[in-house]
Amino acid sequence: MRSHIATLAASAALGLALTGAAVADPVEDSLTVITEDGELEIVTRTAAPDHLKDVLPTIYSGWHYREDETRALQRDDFDNPGMVFADRGHDNWNAEIGTGGESCASCHGGPESMKGLRAVTPRVDAKTGKLMIIEDYVNACVTERMGLEAWGVTGDKMKDMLALISLQSRGETVNVAIDGPAAPFWEKGKEMYYTRYGQLEMSCANCHEDNTGQMIRADHLSQGQISGMPVYRLKDAGVVSAQQRFVGCVRDTRAETFKAGSDEFKALELYVASRGNGLSVEGLGVRH
Ligand code: HEC
Ligand code: HEC
Repeated sequence: MRSHIATLAASAALGLALTGAAVADPVEDSLTVITEDGELEIVTRTAAPDHLKDVLPTIYSGWHYREDETRALQRDDFDNPGMVFADRGHDNWNAEIGTGGESCASCHGGPESMKGLRAVTPRVDAKTGKLMIIEDYVNACVTERMGLEAWGVTGDKMKDMLALISLQSRGETVNVAIDGPAAPFWEKGKEMYYTRYGQLEMSCANCHEDNTGQMIRADHLSQGQISGMPVYRLKDAGVVSAQQRFVGCVRDTRAETFKAGSDEFKALELYVASRGNGLSVEGLGVRH
């Protein structure tokens, strides 16, 4: 009972209309992106993975919850404001910034060598047994192979690189492993997803599962998928990564947040990614 009241109070505080007509379905639409190499179909709606289908039968990319004009920006790379950031990432990929004059390209070749990575991360690294997000792989190379200081997890250099690397997997099916060595991390992430945080005592699930489709302030509440990540956010006029989004969402519950790149948020990223297994990697989504 107590938690029920807390939820109602929190809902009122957030302007969530739990009763009434302020529920809107995800927009009926489909996404084909015009890229340099031609048209590319993006799966933005599909049957939920087994572990989720009892609570959410169909999964939707956040793209379906945005306005017509915002969705349109993602249909053509020429219009997608995020591409500038990926281009900047490409310049940095080729730059000889290492203490021995190394560039990413000097070891990896072109960025297309990263094809597929975004669809399967976060994943447990076979060598170290650690759960790795793409940012961890990049920083491992930056520090251990180029002799540089680690890049900030949510800094511009990192997000530009993340955009470039994610784009290489665009159109591939999200398929993060949740069993084997990933299982304990996945369980931890799942537990976090259903834990109520902050003064508002709200969990990720309270908003993105129980109230998905509701209008919250002027916002159409999505399922909180990360298949579009990193996304270009119009409001921030910049690229936002999953780690950064989690910080923002937890802060909105008026909680002390975990740090971007923390073990907690990495486990959460694995769990949230797994809720989108079956959707396409968007590489660079566009959101409001
Ligand atoms: C001196 C060579 C070298 C440089 C320079 C280097 N890397 Fe790496 N990188 C590696 C090696 C070796 C691996 C590990 C490959 C493996 O374990 O299969 C790796 C792995 C990675 C991975 C994980 C790929 C995967 O499929 O598992 C990413 C992402 C990555 N590097 C990004 C970068 C970026 C971005 C830069 C530039 C900022 C960079 N690397 C610079 C050698 C390098
Ligand atoms: C109080 C409600 C609320 C809570 C609790 C909440 N979020 Fe959100 N979240 C939002 C709103 C509003 C947006 C912006 C509209 C949208 O995409 O749903 C959003 C957006 C997102 C997005 C971006 C989706 C996209 O397609 O760009 C992700 C990912 C996300 N949330 C994950 C989480 C996670 C993980 C948690 C738990 C740590 C969480 N959220 C908790 C309200 C919430």
